[in-house]
Amino acid sequence: MRKHPLAQMLAIGAVASVVGVAIALSIDWFPTRAAAKVNEIDTLYRVLLSVSVPIFVLVMTVAIYSVVKFRARPGDMSDGAPIHGSTRLEVIWVTIPFLLVTGLAIYGWVVLNDVEAKQQGETVVKVRGQQFTWHFQYPGPNGKTVDSDVLYLARDQPYKFEITTNDVIHSFWVPEFRLKQDAVPGQTTHVRITPDRVGTYAVVCAELCGLGHATMRNTVRVVEPNQFKAWLEQQARGAAATAGGGAAPGRGAAAGKQVFTSNGCGACHTLADAGTSGTTGPKLDDIAAAAAKFGKQRGLTAAEYVKQSIEDPTAFVVPGYPPVMPSFKGRVQGAELDALVEYLLSVSGGKGGSG
Ligand code: CUA
Repeated sequence: MRKHPLAQMLAIGAVASVVGVAIALSIDWFPTRAAAKVNEIDTLYRVLLSVSVPIFVLVMTVAIYSVVKFRARPGDMSDGAPIHGSTRLEVIWVTIPFLLVTGLAIYGWVVLNDVEAKQQGETVVKVRGQQFTWHFQYPGPNGKTVDSDVLYLARDQPYKFEITTNDVIHSFWVPEFRLKQDAVPGQTTHVRITPDRVGTYAVVCAELCGLGHATMRNTVRVVEPNQFKAWLEQQARGAAATAGGGAAPGRGAAAGKQVFTSNGCGACHTLADAGTSGTTGPKLDDIAAAAAKFGKQRGLTAAEYVKQSIEDPTAFVVPGYPPVMPSFKGRVQGAELDALVEYLLSVSGGKGGSG
């Protein structure tokens, strides 16, 4: 009358697997789909779920069934029956996982190969990570380049992102596009994405890169191609208006603003004049007063204090803020540094200038 325990376990496991897979597939796991090939990636994920849930369920069924059914009765102090090797079982439990893992690896490779395939007419966007923001550079009209800290993208345009970093390892990730790629010091990595849905998303850093890691997010805007073109041309004109690239001595506060923007200071600092709203570090709208106060305490002029805060941020940390600012020594220097200091002091009500 009684069924063999193995048959019972298999029967329970099969029913539990069906229920488990049904639950796993009914859950909506994914964020908005906003790029081509996203469905392929999501399907891959569902296939992995459908294969791994039954394995988990079967293993747990055998474990729980055995604990309940074959536990020692009270007072039974005897050892269990001696266990001998079983060649047949061993062959089975090596072969099945080998076939499963190999099959899934081939499937994953096929999908990845397709997702990473070179696209016709792709635009190269340079992506640069930095503690704790991202910078994007586009090929603009007339061979110029356009810099932005917002990732503007045209719908249905294939992009190749070339990813580098100024400092440590970061990871470029837009969940709605699914793909993720590390930014590694000394290397250029790349990822190909064709956004196909208009909307606003976020580039998220997916690699622990320091205390400000969680704040390392930049906006992504996918817009219609004509809007993108208009934006790019407007940016190119804006860049031409402040032409010359880096800051030159004597150009003062205007050049300082550009230094502020191109170094991503606004990712962490609020400064109304630059239109930024970061909250990781102190608000800079009143840095002139703060620099005067803290500088005096430390025997520095306001300009010396601001300069030290940029080059050696941990020398003094404003109370109430985490000591997360990286040093910009060697990255912002000379005339650029002077211009930045002058800019910060002048827009926040100070006299500015370090003489
Ligand atoms: Cu950059 Cu985390």
